[in-house]
Amino acid sequence: MKIAIVTGGGDCPGLNAVIRAVAKTAAKRGWETLGIIGGYDGLLNPPNFRLLDYKALDGLLVRGGTILGTANRGQFSAKTGHGETRQLPKELLDATKQGMEALGISALVSVGGDGSLTIAQQMHEAGIPIVGVPKTIDNDLAATTTTFGFDSAVACATDALDRLHTTAESHNRVMVLEVMGRYAGWIALYAGLAGGADVILIPEIPFHYETICAAVMEREKKGKHFTLIIAAEGAKPAGGDFVTASGQEKNREARLGGIGAVVAAEVEQRTGKETRVMVLGHLQRGGSPTYMDRVLCTLFGAKAVELITEGRFGRMVAHNGRFVESVPLAEATGRLRTVPLDEGFVHATRSLGICLGD
Ligand code: F6P
Repeated sequence: MKIAIVTGGGDCPGLNAVIRAVAKTAAKRGWETLGIIGGYDGLLNPPNFRLLDYKALDGLLVRGGTILGTANRGQFSAKTGHGETRQLPKELLDATKQGMEALGISALVSVGGDGSLTIAQQMHEAGIPIVGVPKTIDNDLAATTTTFGFDSAVACATDALDRLHTTAESHNRVMVLEVMGRYAGWIALYAGLAGGADVILIPEIPFHYETICAAVMEREKKGKHFTLIIAAEGAKPAGGDFVTASGQEKNREARLGGIGAVVAAEVEQRTGKETRVMVLGHLQRGGSPTYMDRVLCTLFGAKAVELITEGRFGRMVAHNGRFVESVPLAEATGRLRTVPLDEGFVHATRSLGICLGD
């Protein structure tokens, strides 16, 4: 039996650890695993792949990025604008099926976030034997409490806040750290709590500049002459819109980014406090996965092969907070898991006196 694995969408730490876990578990069953190069396009004619044999797996557990390459644009793109779903053309799905048959692949493991798994769901509906593994630093996939890559991104953002803390304090400045996460505030919230941010701005809670500035001035009154603000890239003022990079490509999701600079300028102007901004950007997607992500990736990869063994296609491996299980791909895609406002995290944040901007 021969299976294949493909990585799609933005990269993140842990992709290689999943590739390793899938190929190792498959090898234990006597199966061959092919790695599809450059995202789903590698399945089309002429195919682009490499054999993931024993030697090819050396060092993959700790290696960042993906040895297979990935793509978050082009003909295989199921999300456009601010998360609208696009149906892939039938001819493209047919060509994918033919490509897989030509390669002798009995099942495909798709490792991706909302976009790539929406494609996987469409492939499943078209009769392609496929299972999904939830990847994204954003942690915004429905039906899993955790996606891999998130823990590593939070570790990076927390480290950035720790570093900004000392320089903010030395210079009596306001520091704004902008982090990724698209329309979910998980990275900002977790890193904000872990790094002791004074203000946490997330897309789920539209903010008011008056509230942020009041928090800065309150600290000033108490003798704390610096403030740490962490802003998710999808945060927006009440009644305002997302800040996006100019130049929207066709069939591509909008590129969020720039809210940190807007907040910094407004805070400086309103409070008179010297303010600086830092955009963490792709640093939070690079490097080696944390131990938590390595474990999650290993469990996810093994579970994906188990699903194939049982012929349970059209499913995604998922973490339910206690153990790894599986859910229909359809449940995991099409809606995002954003930060719930009426649960523990937000309550705790407020009870600590951390400003959420509202
Ligand atoms: O979905 C992962 C993510 O890193 C988002 O947090 C971010 O908005 C986007 O991808 C950035 O994409 P790109 O790598 O195309 O700049």
